[in-house]
Amino acid sequence: MKREKIKDILAAGKVGDSVLVKGWVRAFRSNRFIQVNDGSTIKNIQAVVDFENFDEALLKRVSTAAAVAVSGEIVESQGAGQSIEIKVSEVEILGDANPDDVQKTVMQPKKHSLEFLREQAHLRFRTNTFGAVFRIRHAVAFAINKFFNDRGFYYLHTPIITGSDAEGAGEIFQVTNLDPLNLPIAEDGSIDYKQDFFGKPVNLTVSGQLEAELGAMALGQVYTFGPTFRAENSNTSRHLAEFWMVEPEVAFNDLKDNMDLTEDFLKYLSNYVLTNCADDLQFLNDREVNEQKSKPQKDRSELTLKERLEFVVNNEFKRLTYTEAIQVLRNSKPFKKKKFQYDVEWGIDLQSEHERYLVEKEFKCPVILTDYPAGIKAFYMRQNDDGKTVAAMDVLFPGIGEIVGGSQREERLDVLKSKMADFNIPEEDLAWYLDTRKFGTAPHAGFGLGFERMIMFVTGMTNIRDVIPFPRTPQNAEF
Ligand code: 4AD
Ligand code: MG
Repeated sequence: MKREKIKDILAAGKVGDSVLVKGWVRAFRSNRFIQVNDGSTIKNIQAVVDFENFDEALLKRVSTAAAVAVSGEIVESQGAGQSIEIKVSEVEILGDANPDDVQKTVMQPKKHSLEFLREQAHLRFRTNTFGAVFRIRHAVAFAINKFFNDRGFYYLHTPIITGSDAEGAGEIFQVTNLDPLNLPIAEDGSIDYKQDFFGKPVNLTVSGQLEAELGAMALGQVYTFGPTFRAENSNTSRHLAEFWMVEPEVAFNDLKDNMDLTEDFLKYLSNYVLTNCADDLQFLNDREVNEQKSKPQKDRSELTLKERLEFVVNNEFKRLTYTEAIQVLRNSKPFKKKKFQYDVEWGIDLQSEHERYLVEKEFKCPVILTDYPAGIKAFYMRQNDDGKTVAAMDVLFPGIGEIVGGSQREERLDVLKSKMADFNIPEEDLAWYLDTRKFGTAPHAGFGLGFERMIMFVTGMTNIRDVIPFPRTPQNAEF
């Protein structure tokens, strides 16, 4: 008999059908009811054994976490909680799970902290919470490709190993095959990178944008979606050293077009999860509602997870300039009462406390901030006519803070060159990039969405480590 997936059986199985299911035991109660899960859905199927017909030694091995194959007939369920179940004729143990080992792990049937679950990357997949998170993560990755494909964008694979530091923040991981204990030294005493694999220093990419710009200036509309690496030593709940970024880049778009595209995109993804991940979303929604009960009133979120997604789908994002935001912040209660840890004045990089105030207290909706001071943004952003600000945009989300960063790009060769000089970026290093401004340059714009921050938003998980299968953070690259 061919194995069927539990999701398909629960959706379309008919009483009287013979079925074979393979999965892992979630629970085995009263020597009679086996809860089997195969990952195809958050729901288990109940397999009922008549223990008198089975070998005792065999049933002993049907323990939590064991892998089993069960076959039998679909019957109407007598119990509450499911409409059909399997009346088992055969049980086969595919892989045992020793109950003593299980006792030490997340598989024992009790509630575990997310921190404890993180230590058992292989088993946390087996929990309802992480099953739901990773099924949704997959759905959003698919939706990203669908959104852009449906709109005529091309998926461009930009390199992981690169010589450039697009964001100029210097938070790069160097890549070398030189022996650190035996480095070749040049005549001037510096490391002789000519002898390194690529003949020069290279690093893991911090962004695929500069390469995507080359694609956009020929293919019109492209996007990248790949791993990104930053050696930021910030051990926060919103930073990873290895994360995934989605970066669309569009020829002939200006900042306004860029904002419209971002807003459509984030609405589309939120709506996709609402329509296509109903069971997993409901589970995470209820999980959060339960968690909130143990929190003080002031720390509870006003909307449930599903309501927050619906809110994003149905409401316009608030758009304002950085300069206006500084005004709003300086007029705010926490500023006047000196409640902000960091000062607020024109020119500062906004801190997460400021971003969260704007989104969660002042406007109570997603916010797009534009036109930041040139000095706090990357060299490639287009200079505005005021000479002080650039055509940047950041999208701020409730509970997350910055979820998207983007801009219209500086397409004027002379302005770009003088900007690079200001930022001490040698022209030789980016000659290939500057060339796009010499052969039919054109206005263009793009943005970067932090994929894991989006997954945090659509799952309600509050630590970014819990939305990526194998998190990499300072001092941690386990598994
Ligand atoms: O704002 P960022 O640095 O923008 C860029 O890299 C541009 N090149 C994007 C573009 O215009 N094509 O990063 C974009 C987004 C952030 O808004 C944030 O959501 C996410 O990437 N991000 C991180 N996510 C997890 N961990 C980190 N360490 C992150 N750093 C940035
Ligand atoms: Mg940013």
